[in-house]
Amino acid sequence: MRIGVFDSGIGGLTVLKELVRKYPKNQYFYFGDNKNMPYGSKSKKELLNLSSNIVDFLISKNVDILVIACGTLSSNVYEELKNKYNLPIYDIISPTIKYINDNYKKVGLIATKMTVQSKVFEKKISNICSQACPLFVPIIENNNFNELNSAMDEYFMNISKDIEALILGCTHYPILTDYIKPYFPNTELINMGKVLADNIEIKNSIDKSVRLYFSKVDHTLIENVNKILDFDYQLEEVNAWITRSRNS
Ligand code: DGL
Repeated sequence: MRIGVFDSGIGGLTVLKELVRKYPKNQYFYFGDNKNMPYGSKSKKELLNLSSNIVDFLISKNVDILVIACGTLSSNVYEELKNKYNLPIYDIISPTIKYINDNYKKVGLIATKMTVQSKVFEKKISNICSQACPLFVPIIENNNFNELNSAMDEYFMNISKDIEALILGCTHYPILTDYIKPYFPNTELINMGKVLADNIEIKNSIDKSVRLYFSKVDHTLIENVNKILDFDYQLEEVNAWITRSRNS
């Protein structure tokens, strides 16, 4: 199967990694729009524009299904994308909501500003406290962790410590697991990519290949990708379509 996976940058690689672990024999096409990140503070209109360009690009690669490996896009434009395109599209949030309601009574959520504002988790999970963490994505993408501790001190102060699970509601956040865990030693950290991979049904086919497309390729990106992925990939920079859409 040809599977399209996309995000604002490297965060969705945490989802891709889980999909490849569970369904290795497939052809994966990943798009990370790191030139335009962070998505977490963009308007719904901007998010729809950017994600439509990405979907058009992935459809041009003849993908059979699409996975929105981004909490911000899943919480803000999933319905619009589903209505606009005629192929199966999976969001990253729905499986996590079901998993939480089946297993936990009191949880926390950390996510981007746009995800928290959408209240997509709060509408379906009764006992949940949420906190936006807008500095996390730029810290991760720029691979510059100098301000991480002060940001975590500030954000985590607002989250009750007696939660059973903490939803990492942005796909970038599993990259910070080792930093977040000491703040919540007795709490399960929920990786949405793992929940999705454990719940989605994809048939393994014969070939395996992983192609990564990013809107900006530089040394930092390659370093970041190699920290996350433990399998071979092909990498290409793609940005022509972004310029085109801006001028149209
Ligand atoms: N990985 C995206 C998410 O899950 C990050 C959004 C951003 O670029 O701010 O929300």
